[in-house]
Amino acid sequence: MSTDDQKRRAAEAAAAYVKDGMLLGLGTGSTAAHLVNRIGERVRAGLSVRAIPTSEETRKQAQSEGIELVEPDESSRIDLVIDGADEVDPSKQLIKGGGGALLREKIIASAGAKMIVIADIGKRVSQLGKFPLPVELERFSWPLTVQKIRATLDKNGLEGVALKLRPGPRDAGGGVFRSDGGNYIVDINCSRIPDARALDLGLRAIPGVIETGLFIDMADIIIFGTDEGIETIGV
Ligand code: A5P
Repeated sequence: MSTDDQKRRAAEAAAAYVKDGMLLGLGTGSTAAHLVNRIGERVRAGLSVRAIPTSEETRKQAQSEGIELVEPDESSRIDLVIDGADEVDPSKQLIKGGGGALLREKIIASAGAKMIVIADIGKRVSQLGKFPLPVELERFSWPLTVQKIRATLDKNGLEGVALKLRPGPRDAGGGVFRSDGGNYIVDINCSRIPDARALDLGLRAIPGVIETGLFIDMADIIIFGTDEGIETIGV
């Protein structure tokens, strides 16, 4: 079975949690794309839901699937957020943002009453950090922000790790990657993150850092797709 089939299994299992009348947060990435696809099928079969997408990519897909999209207002209550992840540790802490949508994903994840994470089993790790940690930055004077990031990494037992400004996609002419909000992203090759909570707090305290890809205490349920079926944590 391919990794993509595992992603589809996880997404289809998560779609079963979606009930009539819910306001959903729809994640971003190849696993979330399977979810949007499945919810689209259910909507065409009569399911009534509204959704907030976490990226322009997901917005386009959801629109083409016929899912009703809404702009949140101050009374919006998101019932369920379903999103992918780049790494998941045994305490359900995550690295996200490989696709560059971390800021919008985190805003929606933090607002949801419940978050289900869907991933192929290859995303399960014993310790976070092998996947390069994305950090979204304000573009103004970004090299000064990077200086502070390096100092924070040092303080967190991550002296000398490599850090790189994310390049733009080749088919869009290269250059520097820009998030949907127009910001830069640096990817940090931590290898292992000894204390993800402390690193997240330290990085987010730096002026110029907009968000990190560390999603701490946000996921309620994890559904991994495997060759045999699914493995669920948190129910
Ligand atoms: C998007 O910015 C990310 O947070 C994705 O959720 C994450 O990278 C998982 O992507 P895949 O489902 O494509 O592996």
